[in-house]
Amino acid sequence: ELERTFVMVKPDGVQRGLVGEIISRFERRGLKIAAMKMLVVSDELAKQHYAEHASKPFFPGLVGFIKSGPVVAMVVEGKNVVPLVRSMLGATNPANSNPGTIRGDFALDTGRNVIHASDSPESAKREISLYFNTSEIATYSRID
Ligand code: CMP
Repeated sequence: ELERTFVMVKPDGVQRGLVGEIISRFERRGLKIAAMKMLVVSDELAKQHYAEHASKPFFPGLVGFIKSGPVVAMVVEGKNVVPLVRSMLGATNPANSNPGTIRGDFALDTGRNVIHASDSPESAKREISLYFNTSEIATYSRID
């Protein structure tokens, strides 16, 4: 069953030159990049993306950070991709992100944590539609 998730290398990850490393990890795992773009997130898009956190004390900082420089947004596909990619990211809290995960290898701060990925198939659908038109998402021919 084909599944998709939304992944974004955050401004700190782009600025630190981690885009290639991160894409490599997904490719080596056998996942497919179905869409990808670099952009600077607008204020409106940032607030829509993080709408579920609007009431949190860290919301203004989160929105300010995500707009602070270019990001790389991707649609990644593969079997069980939502939980699989979350496991490859590691925990949001750096105290709990294991070595071998992207955050466990590259992040030390809850806010500046290099990468975002959808936490459920419903979130994935919503987040993909915020960043991509259907015409921007490629279809791979496949034998599986
Ligand atoms: P992300 O996976 O992009 O989704 C929500 C983000 O909120 C999360 O990564 C963190 O970067 C951020 N976040 C969560 N908790 C806190 C916090 N206590 N302080 C600052 N940022 C937070």
